[in-house]
Amino acid sequence: MSLRTILKFPDPVLRKKAEKITSFDSALEDLADDMIETMYDAPGVGLAAPQIGESVQLIVVNAAQDEDGREPMILINPEIVEEEGSQVDEEGCLSVLDLTASVKRSRKVKVSYQDITGEQQELTVEDRFAVVLQHEIDHLHGVLFIDHLSTLKRTLYKKKVKKMLAAKA
Ligand code: NI
Repeated sequence: MSLRTILKFPDPVLRKKAEKITSFDSALEDLADDMIETMYDAPGVGLAAPQIGESVQLIVVNAAQDEDGREPMILINPEIVEEEGSQVDEEGCLSVLDLTASVKRSRKVKVSYQDITGEQQELTVEDRFAVVLQHEIDHLHGVLFIDHLSTLKRTLYKKKVKKMLAAKA
């Protein structure tokens, strides 16, 4: 296992649509292991493969009920097949520095996905866990949580990042 570098907005890989995974081999297991290690190191509650520069449909999340618990879960080619209700919760992202904001999401989602062996699975989650899954699945479509904010908020954030990058250069 090794720690991987997390790409930051505005890296173009974060905007690409991720490829579907078709081979369930040891390279995939290694990638998932790296992602789990990188997620807990960050620390974060979820990580999508494009965030470490791998444009494939793989996400890892921490499924533990209590905040300090560790229960890593790997979802391959995940897809939201049903959604219900709505909720507004505070979100941040390991690829979006210095910003948290309220985002409106579905309250409950049913996700179909493949596990690390390629077996088809289904999972229904709600509340905070549903937010995490929607956020991570968005990453596989090149969507970031800032895309759910108002144009004004998003523009302000982009200006701030430009300034930060200019200051570094
Ligand atoms: Ni994120």
